[in-house]
Amino acid sequence: MSNEIFPENGSTDDDAILQRLAALREDDLSAKDGNAFAFIYDAGDAVNQLARKAFAAGMSGNGLDPTVYPSARRLENDLVGATLSHLRAPQEAVGTVTSGGTESVILSVKTARDYARKHRPHITEPNMLLPETAHASFQKAAHYLGVKAILVHVDPQTMQASMESVRAKLDENTILLVGSAPSYAHGVIDPIAEMGALAQEKDLLLHVDACIGGWVLPFEREIGVDLPEFDFQVPGVTSMSVDLHKYGFTPKGISILAQRNRELRNAQYYSCATWTGYSIINPTIQGSKSLAPMTAAWAVLQRLGKSGYRELIAKTWKATEQFVEGVGKIDGIRVLGNPVMGLVAITTKGGDVFELADRLTAAGWHVQPTYAFGNSPAHIHFSIDPHNASKVGALLEDLEKATPNLPDSAEAPAPVVQLLEAVAQGAGGMDTGAMMAEFGIKDGKLPGAQAPIHRLLNSCSPTAREKLLTLFLGEMFS
Ligand SMILES: Cc1ncc(COP(=O)(O)O)c(C=O)c1O
Repeated sequence: MSNEIFPENGSTDDDAILQRLAALREDDLSAKDGNAFAFIYDAGDAVNQLARKAFAAGMSGNGLDPTVYPSARRLENDLVGATLSHLRAPQEAVGTVTSGGTESVILSVKTARDYARKHRPHITEPNMLLPETAHASFQKAAHYLGVKAILVHVDPQTMQASMESVRAKLDENTILLVGSAPSYAHGVIDPIAEMGALAQEKDLLLHVDACIGGWVLPFEREIGVDLPEFDFQVPGVTSMSVDLHKYGFTPKGISILAQRNRELRNAQYYSCATWTGYSIINPTIQGSKSLAPMTAAWAVLQRLGKSGYRELIAKTWKATEQFVEGVGKIDGIRVLGNPVMGLVAITTKGGDVFELADRLTAAGWHVQPTYAFGNSPAHIHFSIDPHNASKVGALLEDLEKATPNLPDSAEAPAPVVQLLEAVAQGAGGMDTGAMMAEFGIKDGKLPGAQAPIHRLLNSCSPTAREKLLTLFLGEMFS
């Protein structure tokens, strides 16, 4: 790795440094062409320009101590207040600004664990029930916090959590139920009302993960989209997470974790006075906490206002309906479940879905090939947002051209899969760089034709997949 960025003598040529930075970012996925159907949630240049300035305005602040930075208190209370009312939370509800969905999710699990330690101290091996569609960050939380994650099936038609499976897996050590509103992969809402009733009956906490859709769904309801109940109006919902840095269209680094009352939030906080420095009361995992994502979000909410969001979300919903309807008319592919917002998973009726993804990539689209797991078959995920909404028609045309004559979907050759499983198991001594080169991965870039790689990984066990991808990522940062 070169040392050019840390020369002996610094340079005062700021323009040159910024130009190098711009050049560095040229290959990154961007909202520029409207061809990206994953990763990007973008409300357009005007909003982004304000966000950039407002982000810079928050840069030097630190939310670690709101008595030293009173703006941190005001910003957080304003953002949490707006979110609580958006989610129709009761008067006594409270919340916290976190750095993103994963942090909100981890904290929702910590809340459940520490709340159970206080109220159900006989439970020594707590578990939570996760639909197999729940975001992976819950399993990450389980891993970090010593709470067992028990996966429950989703209905293969609706992709919603099966309440039968939830009831079957629930036991005396269960402390938390989780539902998504909606799930990332398929954009469907779990049966939150039924989960709420069960949580109340069994005295459990219920977290509704609305990280990706919590900002969108209330606006969709306002414009007449038919949605099931999913928010604090459902008795039994004890916490919700909503990311502003996704469909709130604000810069990365901000999510809100809402708790039904203060006692729950107390279980979320961490405090420490047993060291020689300043006493710590941390609402989140962070210590020092940048104000920049908060100042940017604070500005974007004012820039768009409710009507601005409503307009962007109406446009996105219209494009989503157009996409779902269009896919329904193409022979050989189908939508999984019944998406309630711009998160759509499509799969084939026998053709190789990874080959289809390659054909779309070759036509200039950025899409997300996704492996089979549980009752969800291998599919391609599309995120529709205001920046790509007007491209849906062109995308459908290319999908129609790409779908005929796909090779049959098939498992990768068994001996190769067995070899990969073995490599994953004893991964220590292998030359990961050489293996990546063999797959055509060079300088961290995937080859144009990725289907062979995806077919192999899809045929591997999830454990082998985790290990192999860990090796790949490690290689990229070595
Ligand atoms: C439903 C859901 N929950 C949690 C997360 C994690 O969010 P983040 O990537 O901000 O950590 C995501 C991310 O896409 C998500 O879709």
